[in-house]
Amino acid sequence: MAFIDKIKERAKADKKTIVLPESMDKRTYEAAEKILKEGIANLIIIGTPEEIEKNGKGFDISGATIVDPYNDPNKQKYIDKFVELRGKKGVTPEVAKEQMEKDYMYYACLMCKCGDADGAVSGACHSTGNTIRPALQLLKTKPGISSVSGFFLMEVPDCEFGENGLFVFADCAVNTDFDSNKLAEIAGLSAESFKMLVGAEPKVAMLSYSSMGSAKHDDVTKVADAVKIAHEKFPELKLDGELQLDAALVPSVGEAKAPGSSVAGHANTLVFPSLEAGNIGYKLVQRLAKAGAYGPVLQGLSMPVNDLSRGCFADDIVGVVAITAVQAQQA
Ligand code: ACO
Repeated sequence: MAFIDKIKERAKADKKTIVLPESMDKRTYEAAEKILKEGIANLIIIGTPEEIEKNGKGFDISGATIVDPYNDPNKQKYIDKFVELRGKKGVTPEVAKEQMEKDYMYYACLMCKCGDADGAVSGACHSTGNTIRPALQLLKTKPGISSVSGFFLMEVPDCEFGENGLFVFADCAVNTDFDSNKLAEIAGLSAESFKMLVGAEPKVAMLSYSSMGSAKHDDVTKVADAVKIAHEKFPELKLDGELQLDAALVPSVGEAKAPGSSVAGHANTLVFPSLEAGNIGYKLVQRLAKAGAYGPVLQGLSMPVNDLSRGCFADDIVGVVAITAVQAQQA
């Protein structure tokens, strides 16, 4: 069974409520119809009757709960919560109301925060920054986590590497500024994400253009230091580095460049040294190897909120909703 079909089955086994704020995009309705028909999640769609009528025409979304952000009996509760959370940042009831009406992602995150939804998915017609900023501001990180990062679950066809072609790639989406501590934290979160979604033991490679000291540069030291920190923080985790990509994936190269490593040649969780590397890396594999790329899935947030690519298809939304529901089951 394909990875995403297994995730859908898991989502169906304990249905969660996911909120979709992009009522201005037709793909939301196409996806919603499929999600409801397959029983993957309960859905809330945020939109005015006009938006729903105009964009949802022809799709059966009768099983979804529609929340009109201008006429919602719960709206005052969300305004109060927004002010409670962001009053110190200057958010007054008027600002909260305006922000929630202007940007439904704020509304969606407040629904999650107040316990009326288990997670949210957006980004089919909003940039990554605009999708995740409300979640960072309102939902915040899990206790003990300093920053949210974004991974892709990559499913590479006909691939003998990783876990039969399944990988986690991180951080491909969020942090523009990495230090060794942040890299170590991303490694720990990525390992958890791999275990949760794939169900196999994570083997984490901390990637670089150097393998085990073969090159000297501050960028290499940053990754080597992250490896030391990660070993201290997660002593039980199979993690190694710094490793070049071929040493991480290919057993013969791993043996030559990092003899004795339990990860080199067998890695299934790839931690990139910068956002450029991670973002370019996942797109290379997606386009050239025709890999499935599910995400960016956010890790480290207190509740599951996930982004979509603006080039996504309705089926991608279905997949990310299923992943979000499975994350919510673990919360
Ligand atoms: N983890 C947790 N909290 C964070 C993080 C993080 N990684 N980054 C920012 N925050 C918090 C801040 O502490 C701040 O909290 P506060 O308002 O309570 O003080 C809040 O989020 C807003 O932070 P800002 O720095 O003001 O927000 P900004 O919008 O400038 O930056 C963002 C956040 C959007 C994540 C930014 O880092 C960004 O744009 N990243 C790159 C996104 C991107 O373009 N990715 C590539 C494309 S994705 C793709 O190709 C699929």
